Amino acid sequence: MRAELLIHGARVVTPNGVETLDIACRDGKIVGLGDLHGHWQTDEVLVARGLHVLPGVIDTQVHFREPGLTHKEDIEAGTRGAVLGGVTGVFEMPNTNPLTLWEADLNAKLQAAEGRAWCDYAFYIGGSQINATQLADLERLPGCAGVKVFMGSSFGDLLADEDAVLRQILQHGQRRLSVHAEDEARLRERKALVEASGDVRDHPQWRDMESAFKATRRIVALARETGRRLHVLHVTTAQEMAFLAQHKDRVTVETTPHHLSMVAPDCYERLGSLAQMNPPVREFVHQQALWQAIRNGVVDVIGSDHAPHTLEEKSQPYPNSPSGMTGVQTLLPMMLEHVHAGRLSLQRLVDLTSVGPARIFGIEGKGRIALGYDADLTLVDLGAQRTINNSWIASRSGWTPYDGVRVTGWPIHTVVRGHLAVRDEQLSERPQGRPIRFLDVPAVASPGADLTSTGDT
Ligand code: DOR
Repeated sequence: MRAELLIHGARVVTPNGVETLDIACRDGKIVGLGDLHGHWQTDEVLVARGLHVLPGVIDTQVHFREPGLTHKEDIEAGTRGAVLGGVTGVFEMPNTNPLTLWEADLNAKLQAAEGRAWCDYAFYIGGSQINATQLADLERLPGCAGVKVFMGSSFGDLLADEDAVLRQILQHGQRRLSVHAEDEARLRERKALVEASGDVRDHPQWRDMESAFKATRRIVALARETGRRLHVLHVTTAQEMAFLAQHKDRVTVETTPHHLSMVAPDCYERLGSLAQMNPPVREFVHQQALWQAIRNGVVDVIGSDHAPHTLEEKSQPYPNSPSGMTGVQTLLPMMLEHVHAGRLSLQRLVDLTSVGPARIFGIEGKGRIALGYDADLTLVDLGAQRTINNSWIASRSGWTPYDGVRVTGWPIHTVVRGHLAVRDEQLSERPQGRPIRFLDVPAVASPGADLTSTGDT
């Protein structure tokens, strides 16, 4: 009956629904739920009346650019933005410099994160021709989020576009394989279109609906053939959603707040190449299909695809401007605004940002407010109105496509394994992030990782 932190008086989103409960946290875990205030000995009581407590938000797609491109982003600033935005865990992508292809690359990222990451983290290994046959071992390394494949070139040199290579990648490993599905051959064929026009409004015509749909059809067929589970990242088209609805037994689906919140051509007219990302933000009819897929359950998770580039880089003439926008810090505020507008329920949001990531990737001890789970908690004020602006953004790139956007619903406190990383919207304590653990991977044996506490509540 002793807690280090007791959260008192909030409305808590649990597997039972929304209840007024106290949450007792000790040694990084949830050790008590109920009417606890006054009954438990506790070092600190955080009075949270009027707030909702969500299971910590897990963003399963971010690019933190370290090593090699730290003028755009780094692990410290990226995870700082995460916790300020209510995110308690991230999966980071392998298109850094060097690419994350081998054990040494993964270990370098784990080492770089130690003592500098504000939230918990796992790193993807990139799947390519040169490491394909080693992936079964690589994907089981502690701290590895799984394998990520780029079927179409985006930013960086990672690419696996031929069926023979993709088949080999799919055959080596067991975990869910994450894929960026745009068809490289079609992208090459169509690039002349934008080289001629130089107009960013043509971005969704260059990387058109069929480029995405074709790649998705190919990879789903190969995953069926090889019996591998698949996760299709940032799905953007109505056609893909209708197709993927027929493959939900083994294929999971991500969409992003960017594709749910912006539409072409408006976003390109307002923001120019700041709105340029891959796969592109598309027309209203596609956005409607993404919302429909949120409502009918086809979408499993929302990932931000946080992909920072500096404003200077973004201001190069299109198509030389790099694709990608920041997003980790605005994922939750934008989605809370969608909850406020009635586009999805709070329960469905939690399903997409906590329960879903834990379920589809087999994350240990996260994604749920329940006894024995990690005390990762995102405390939000559903009625708070704020204006998002660039000066709030922690990213080294220092900008957001939502500069000036007013939202209702805001993260107030962020708790990472019982530590208040953010208190009253301000950073607090020190970076406390640790590697995320997975059910089908051995625990991380790095200094600072508290292996003895696993499963011990
Ligand atoms: O727009 C994008 N930017 N899409 C990607 O797939 C990669 C990302 C980046 O790393 O910049």
